[in-house]
Amino acid sequence: MCGIVGYLGFRRADQVIISALKRLEYRGYDSWGVAVKHGNGLELIKRVGAIGDVENYSLAEGNIGIGHTRWATHGKPSEINAHPHTDCNNKIAVVHNGIISNFQSLREDLKSRGHEFTSETDTEVIAHLIEEEYRGDLKEAMMKAVERLKGSYAIVVMHVDKEELVAVRYKSPLVIGIGDGECFIASDVPAVLDYTNRVIYLEDGDIVKMWNNGFIIWNNGKEVERKIDTIPWSIEDSEKGGYEHFMLKEIHETPRVIEDTLFEYLSEDIDIDVSFSAGISEIVFVACGTSYHASLIGRYLIEKLTGIPARVEFASEFIYNPPPISRTLVIAITQSGETADTLEAMRIAKKHGARVVAIVNVLGSTATRIADYILYTRAGPEISVAATKSFIAQLIVLYLLALKLSKLPGSEIEKLIEELRIMPEIVRRILEHEEKIEQIAEEIANFEDMMYIGRGIGVPIAMEGALKMKEISYIHAEAYPAGELKHGPFALLGKHTPVIALLIPDETYEIMLNNIKEVKARESLVVAVADEDDAEVEKYVDFVIRVPKTNSVFTAVTHSVALQLLAYYTARKRGCEIDKPRNLAKSVTVE
Ligand code: AGP
Repeated sequence: MCGIVGYLGFRRADQVIISALKRLEYRGYDSWGVAVKHGNGLELIKRVGAIGDVENYSLAEGNIGIGHTRWATHGKPSEINAHPHTDCNNKIAVVHNGIISNFQSLREDLKSRGHEFTSETDTEVIAHLIEEEYRGDLKEAMMKAVERLKGSYAIVVMHVDKEELVAVRYKSPLVIGIGDGECFIASDVPAVLDYTNRVIYLEDGDIVKMWNNGFIIWNNGKEVERKIDTIPWSIEDSEKGGYEHFMLKEIHETPRVIEDTLFEYLSEDIDIDVSFSAGISEIVFVACGTSYHASLIGRYLIEKLTGIPARVEFASEFIYNPPPISRTLVIAITQSGETADTLEAMRIAKKHGARVVAIVNVLGSTATRIADYILYTRAGPEISVAATKSFIAQLIVLYLLALKLSKLPGSEIEKLIEELRIMPEIVRRILEHEEKIEQIAEEIANFEDMMYIGRGIGVPIAMEGALKMKEISYIHAEAYPAGELKHGPFALLGKHTPVIALLIPDETYEIMLNNIKEVKARESLVVAVADEDDAEVEKYVDFVIRVPKTNSVFTAVTHSVALQLLAYYTARKRGCEIDKPRNLAKSVTVE
């Protein structure tokens, strides 16, 4: 996720901005840049990689500037693509967080009117649009430019002729930091906390003009007042947005991640180019860990919604025993795009003549260079080792892909798409009741073994739930199809082994209830995950985690978010080091 900083005041802008950008490093970035106004010119610095020591850099003296840490979305990580971006005359500099979805048409239009572009980014169109609209009033020009943008954005702009900054927010966060004789603007609070703890969180549609000792905010053409908050957190706390751990913060980012990922591929209709699927007779997913579980759900969706036969292979096993590949589409799923096993499986698949699609979160990662086609998830950087929001983003891409390839009647597809559109709201509702999940976590936190059971789509959800539990709480958690219990795992059940049972509102429901009764007969404590309308389940279990009712295919989202929270609160109760579990790495770059 990109980070934005703007400064006006009495200090050297370059030093303030670079140190503030360092405070945003936790968001992840691949390149960065700063622009400072000095005299009636702009001085810029842009670099790929980490910032390092602030003292290493010195721009011209100046007290107004903007800076940016970039997490590439359009255009690879490079100095040219790093922000700030400027207009044709180097008078206007812009930093931007978000995605401008109509940038291609704007770019073509601006080019046809003589604007010269230097980068591949969506952001650069903003600088040129403001240039077109500028008649001496930067705020007016920004307003007019923004009218032409589609997408999500937090933008800060400066002009060499102005002793001011202008910023606008729409679906990407921006906060004002209020100092004494100085003003800050940033995408997150840590950037300003070294200087002030008085902040204003801007709202969607807000446009702000800032001077070193004041600012005005407008919304919908009218001047508005916004509440000033005093931040009580330390810098370290604030990097986590006030959450105790990155994992919890990232789970709470899920609604926005779903919105961003839907936004990427769903405007009026599903906007995924599936030319890669022409003539294929089967799909093979390759992945590891959580991405492997997303693949299992992907297989379920593909087979259920499209009828195309699909298989899932652990990437590490595919390497030794690649299945015969003829007219096979290989879909590699990887958050990092750097998992060695997955990369090797992709290479082998290509060697055998398969077409390879990567569903990947990190732009410019190795997987994106190997794949023939790329479908990005828009989860932003994930810092906690345990994958949470990125898993849900993978599911969203898989829903869209399966629906795009689906042979279902149009009306049914429409209905599913409509439900997909409200998934951010559905997840928000789960998050609003997380204290209930926390209470249930306290009931299970002292056990050393657990069993997760489900049927149908519930099986991979159970597997992912168990993985989350074991990796962060160190509780031994196994996942089984409920029907398999009687073939062995029953021997493990009893008072010492709680069972997490997933109820899916489909043809598996009744038999799952029977399985739960069988488990209860073995005296295990049972926690069910079920929808709000399910009045039956509570008769048979000890605790129920309630989630909003959805079409059964979307339980992969609802139940998984609930299980992520259950794992999180269980690990927290056990005092585990949640964001960096022992023996694990975020990205496994060795085979
Ligand atoms: C899950 O919480 C882990 N972080 C791990 O299983 C992870 O999903 C796996 O290592 C694959 O990583 P990738 O998605 O970056 O390829």
